[in-house]
Amino acid sequence: MYREQYSRYVSLVEETIEKLLPKTEAVCPKEEGVMPQLLCESMRYSLLAGGKRIRPVLLLAACDMLGGDLEQAKAPAAALEMIHTYSLIHDDLPGMDDDDFRRGRPTNHKVYGVGHAILAGDGLLNYAYECLLGNAAQYPENLQGHVLAAKAIANRAGVCGMIAGQSLDLSSEHMEPDAERLGYIHAHKTADLLTAPLLAAAYIAGASEEQIDALRRFGYCVGIAFQIDDDLLDVEGDAALLGKQTGMDAQRGKMTWPALMGVEASRARSARLWDEAEEAISIFGERAWFMRGFAAQMRTRKS
Ligand code: IPE
Ligand code: IPE
Ligand code: MG
Ligand code: MG
Ligand code: MG
Repeated sequence: MYREQYSRYVSLVEETIEKLLPKTEAVCPKEEGVMPQLLCESMRYSLLAGGKRIRPVLLLAACDMLGGDLEQAKAPAAALEMIHTYSLIHDDLPGMDDDDFRRGRPTNHKVYGVGHAILAGDGLLNYAYECLLGNAAQYPENLQGHVLAAKAIANRAGVCGMIAGQSLDLSSEHMEPDAERLGYIHAHKTADLLTAPLLAAAYIAGASEEQIDALRRFGYCVGIAFQIDDDLLDVEGDAALLGKQTGMDAQRGKMTWPALMGVEASRARSARLWDEAEEAISIFGERAWFMRGFAAQMRTRKS
């Protein structure tokens, strides 16, 4: 049941992405609303390379759980995946983590060059907001909900959110691991983009303050656990399953949980956070069945 539902959400996201992406025809477009072929190809290369799609899935699932209109949530879900994909393209650049593989294929800059990888990221980020705003304008009766959802996404993806985490991640390379600093890095570079879909869904569906608080806590716990697991998978995971190289964090001197407290203690901490995540959504009772399934699946993920 959970797996089927997850696949349904993923299909919905991928269909929406396909529908939303602008057309590309020519090297030098002659019409409005048509983008240059190389730019379009480099955006599509990373966006349509698979990926677990957990952020948009969480947005759709939270909207369903709250009794919201899924139709209104499709474009925001697709937009969030565009933002996440841009963050991965830029994260892999030589000036950042300098990685060669992502989602089972060479990284964007390896195929299109650094310049176009930067532009593909810029393009996805900008286009995500174009989609969010265009969608908001289609629902004048729920404009407030859509504006708050877009603001939550912008805030969590932005300079006090994911980008802030990435900034500290970068400036903390080769530093002595420090729990407070690492907590900040994980809370922002990862947990913020996992909380964003839950908050966006909450605003679109008109959730109560109590529900928003519960979702915020769920997102935080899921996000931190997810990044601890990512750090653990970099140490002991299978590159073929992950679709990205392993052992890169140690090579780059990244501040990670295994570097701070070792593998065993990191595993224990992740397990506690997954438990806490499940507890956070208990107020939704039966309606949280998908979220519980999500936590159960994710805590043992290998990819
Ligand atoms: C990778 O995110 C970046 C981290 C926050 C660890 P995902 O593991 O969700 O990557 P995809 O989208 O499935 O490729
Ligand atoms: C990246 O964290 C989080 C982002 C905002 C992209 P990592 O650098 O650990 O992600 P991977 O391991 O490259 O996927
Ligand atoms: Mg990184
Ligand atoms: Mg990286
Ligand atoms: Mg990593």
